[in-house]
Amino acid sequence: MKNVDVLLQETTQSYLDTRPESTLKNAIAYALGGTGKKLRPKLMLSIIQSRGEDMKPYLNAALALELVHTYSLVHDDLPAMDDDDLRRGQATTHIKFDEATAILVGDALLSDAFHLITGAEEIDTEIRLTMVDILSKKIGSSGMVYGQALDIESEGKTLESDDLMAINLHKTSNLLEAAIMMGAVAAQEKSLPAYESLARDLGLLYQIQDDVLEAESDEVTLGKSFSDDRRQKPTFVTLLGKNGAESLRASYAKRLHEKITDLQLEGTEFERLIEQILKRTY
Ligand code: IPE
Ligand code: IPE
Ligand code: MG
Ligand code: MG
Repeated sequence: MKNVDVLLQETTQSYLDTRPESTLKNAIAYALGGTGKKLRPKLMLSIIQSRGEDMKPYLNAALALELVHTYSLVHDDLPAMDDDDLRRGQATTHIKFDEATAILVGDALLSDAFHLITGAEEIDTEIRLTMVDILSKKIGSSGMVYGQALDIESEGKTLESDDLMAINLHKTSNLLEAAIMMGAVAAQEKSLPAYESLARDLGLLYQIQDDVLEAESDEVTLGKSFSDDRRQKPTFVTLLGKNGAESLRASYAKRLHEKITDLQLEGTEFERLIEQILKRTY
């Protein structure tokens, strides 16, 4: 059995092979490349694997998550948003190509993501519809994009912890929730809210880690430029200090382990992936 990285690489290549030759295609391939961790598709697939199901039929739906995430990063890096020039260890898409191309890459990735799910004929129609329903809800104007709007509005402000939590819940947790819930739907799991709640904690933990890494690590190691300071963004580190952020991270890690136990996911592929995330350095 090929490992998940190889399977995702092949699925990405098949997606690219079916695009017309163009600068747009080259820019899409570029944005999907670099040092991206492919965390969201891996989360979805690891739930399917952990429940003893075959993940092959779900590779395109999993790739859809990476397309959505990549679209969000390409737009996030634009001058009108975070104005960053390094992402995934390489120049951001608007620097390598141009702003118009970067906007179109995002537009194309978002649209193509939904077609990857609806066109996955190996998956039962109702499951495909449920996946589209979950994903669209989690990333739209009450989900990830709402989080991005709140994040932009937060620049230069001092926030309460709850406000920062709300931003991160939307901008980061919502897509992780979609990933894990889509895995649970594929595995015909009944307790979707329990998966959603676990993913919500994982997303908040992930964002706290990101803030701590940005305070402690460097741009080369993380493969992306740091704009929080420059843009005066409130983060868990500016709000709570490094120690405060670290202890909040630890409390989320504890809760996450409890939820893994409750869902009987101990010793599974999913738990192994979570352990890798907890130890991440980029
Ligand atoms: C970066 O996400 C943006 C955040 C939500 C913190 P990742 O850390 O998953 O980035 P890639 O996909 O590996 O580049
Ligand atoms: C990125 O958030 C989250 C989305 C694109 C939805 P950030 O702006 O905080 O993440 P980085 O630091 O650019 O990866
Ligand atoms: Mg941002
Ligand atoms: Mg950013």
